[in-house]
Amino acid sequence: MSSESKLTVLVVGAGGNTGFLIATALLDANKYNTYILCRPGSQDKTRIVTLKARGAKVKLGDIINDTVEELEKNLIGVDVVVSAVSTSSMDGEKTLFQAAKNAGVQRVVPSDFGFMVPPGEILLSDMKRKLHSFIEELGVGYTFIEVGWWMDLVLPYPSNTTGILAQRSYTAGGTGKVKVAFTPRIDIGRFVAHIIADPRTLNQTVFCYSDQLTLDEVYDIANRVSGEDLRSKVTMWTKAQLAKQIEDARVAYEQAPSVMTIVGRVVPECYYYMYVRGHNTVEKAKELGALDARALYPDFQPLSTEEYAKLFYKELPDIFYSNV
Ligand SMILES: NC(=O)c1ccc[n+]([C@@H]2O[C@H](COP(=O)([O-])OP(=O)(O)OC[C@H]3O[C@@H](n4cnc5c(N)ncnc54)[C@H](OP(=O)(O)O)[C@@H]3O)[C@@H](O)[C@H]2O)c1
Repeated sequence: MSSESKLTVLVVGAGGNTGFLIATALLDANKYNTYILCRPGSQDKTRIVTLKARGAKVKLGDIINDTVEELEKNLIGVDVVVSAVSTSSMDGEKTLFQAAKNAGVQRVVPSDFGFMVPPGEILLSDMKRKLHSFIEELGVGYTFIEVGWWMDLVLPYPSNTTGILAQRSYTAGGTGKVKVAFTPRIDIGRFVAHIIADPRTLNQTVFCYSDQLTLDEVYDIANRVSGEDLRSKVTMWTKAQLAKQIEDARVAYEQAPSVMTIVGRVVPECYYYMYVRGHNTVEKAKELGALDARALYPDFQPLSTEEYAKLFYKELPDIFYSNV
């Protein structure tokens, strides 16, 4: 495919945990002109250098500090903008998408990559929903992409690892007996590479998942594949404990709204939604209006939990842990 006939895609947040694997999958797909927008201070980070060496073209910009006009200059000639910025930079996405609209971008993908959830259950999803309304009102084409929970956060990290993701993986909730939809970050990227070129997904929400299992099933796989009793490292918060955590986090947020207190609500609210209510499933996502990515792309086979666990426990820490 000549570079003129390829879609030009710009990934914002390509130095991050999700964005790096999205940019990697776009390069692997070999059907996009792949650009990444990175903050001037981040251009020497290993992930950015790696993507550049693989052929991604780097543009410098900052969605919080740049004006619409400054961002617009970086978006001339871009067909699709995919944002994978962190929660702390969500405010800048309005500026980014306004600039995208002005520059004639055909489709934008905001940094969702979470649950399909009705209003009032998860504060972060409500905030992302406001951004969806902003995008719809702008009149720019869009696709909202949800992925359930990262499989990377559900498989307990090997006992010799440390860090925030490892700690997160040692917490869960509920009885372990409800089905939950998971996607490893590698497959988030691969799904995105399918979705953004597909006319059927324009102005739609798409729900991706690699596997849908109970925690009991996940931990059986984790113990067997890792050869360790990792299940015993996981604290399973009860329904009552999670309800208390949600209430405490809600009070903290109402007393002092900030990124910290928003983030403080994410884990208990998400755990309650998926592990207690059992609503993080493809069935629920479809009920709420999402397209099922597995049905859209029957030829794409994402990794099963078993397959991913083999990679996860074999490859750590190089690929999955500290420095993707
Ligand atoms: N479903 C799940 O289980 C799950 C789990 C975690 C996250 N998520 C979602 O995934 C999305 C991405 O999260 P993540 O954890 O992958 O993010 P992350 O690792 O924190 O990466 C964020 C990226 O955004 C870039 N960025 C931040 N501020 C910016 C700015 N002002 N201008 C330009 N770029 C900026 C950062 O650039 P620098 O390199 O310059 O710092 C970094 O590359 C979020 O929407 C989050 O809610 C979902």
